Amino acid sequence: MQPQPLLELCQALSGEFRRDPKGARVASLLAEYSKAQSDWRGWSFFAPDCYTRNQVHHEPEFELLLLCWGAQQKSPIHNHEGQRCWMSVLEGEVVETLFEVPSNGAPPRAKGTPRRLSQGQVAFITDEIALHEIASGGGRPAVSLHLYSRPFSTCQVYDPTSGQVQVRQLGYYSVRGERGALSRASRP
Ligand code: SIN
Repeated sequence: MQPQPLLELCQALSGEFRRDPKGARVASLLAEYSKAQSDWRGWSFFAPDCYTRNQVHHEPEFELLLLCWGAQQKSPIHNHEGQRCWMSVLEGEVVETLFEVPSNGAPPRAKGTPRRLSQGQVAFITDEIALHEIASGGGRPAVSLHLYSRPFSTCQVYDPTSGQVQVRQLGYYSVRGERGALSRASRP
């Protein structure tokens, strides 16, 4: 049987959350995988109108998604529903812009300068740290791994101009490498 590094990563992450619910080794597991492996290509799907969210693994403690960003595609400004989010870059360049959580319905204000992440680099965010917006960088497509602990199925998205907040249902473009009945538009 062929080695399946992505599935082995999921097993290692499950073991890590059982060992330590804080996931102290999650960032290094994601970084090691992202620097060395390419079997994720079989799980990647791009769409012309929006970045795609592709579910790799889901269990009560965490969810692992592969996100595919076409050139110039980006997420809305959003929160993480009180959960933790790790992101590592598999290919291309991903730009993360942080925003302060607005307290008075005002538009969210950028916090610091956008951070450019390339292959093997890992970012971490919670709602206490900031909201964020993710985009592909360098005018090229990008692919990234996102781990949410615990999983969440809706999030709040912020209009950058009016500050209006909406609750978005989160979907999957593919599930475990298959585009099927469960797959639907992947927004936010
Ligand atoms: C992220 O929050 O890390 C990316 C956005 C998403 O999950 O759709």
